[in-house]
Amino acid sequence: MKKEYSTIPPSMANMQTYGFSWMDFVSAIPSPLFVVTSFKANGKPNACLQSWACFNGSEKGFYAILSSVNKAGHMYKSVKDTGVCVLNFPSADVYDRCLDTIDNNQWEADEITASGLTVESATTVNAPRIKECFLSLECRYLWEREITEGNSHVLMCLEVTNICMDETHLDESVQGRYGASGYLYNVHYPVNPETYNGKSHDYVAVLKKLRDMGEY
Ligand SMILES: Cc1cc2nc3c(=O)[nH]c(=O)nc-3n(C[C@H](O)[C@H](O)[C@H](O)COP(=O)(O)O)c2cc1C
Repeated sequence: MKKEYSTIPPSMANMQTYGFSWMDFVSAIPSPLFVVTSFKANGKPNACLQSWACFNGSEKGFYAILSSVNKAGHMYKSVKDTGVCVLNFPSADVYDRCLDTIDNNQWEADEITASGLTVESATTVNAPRIKECFLSLECRYLWEREITEGNSHVLMCLEVTNICMDETHLDESVQGRYGASGYLYNVHYPVNPETYNGKSHDYVAVLKKLRDMGEY
């Protein structure tokens, strides 16, 4: 039997949603995890963990649409100031250090080094890259939109100018391309609206191929 939810379920009426919609938590759609790096106006590397995004290309280029960028954060300001950034995709072994960038968010900090990660130069843009990440997308800022007027977050479109990828992830025969430890996905507070009792947590997931499970 399918259930439908177009208004907030009674069990979630008092849920702390941290600015998200209750529909985020009922749908719990996984989104890819990556760290956006750029230079702050003081020249220090900025790092911002992000996950609400999609990626798509056309004959004109390849684009990253970051769908929920906080206008109050360092990342938004740095990308607007410099016009460029890098999207760095971690595997599971470095995820805890990527999470640490949230605590090391001080204006004066080199947020990459302070989190135990290594700064390297990007090839096509003036932004830092994270050496430990298996994939880095170098990007330039194209445009932004508020999804609804007056929103504290914006949808931001970036054009990818360069892909830097660890060769173990290029070769399908080495670890099945994605491997057991990355890409990583953010699963945001999945809630059963029928039984929600105030407890939920988010978690990180990886991809498993249906082919490896004997299908397709
Ligand atoms: C799993 C996870 C996903 C996140 N995704 C986003 C996101 O998509 N957009 C955003 O603005 N902040 C996101 N955040 C919050 C930022 O990482 C956090 O506020 C960060 O300190 C902001 O850095 P900044 O000041 O350099 O912008 C996420 C945090 C976590 C733990």
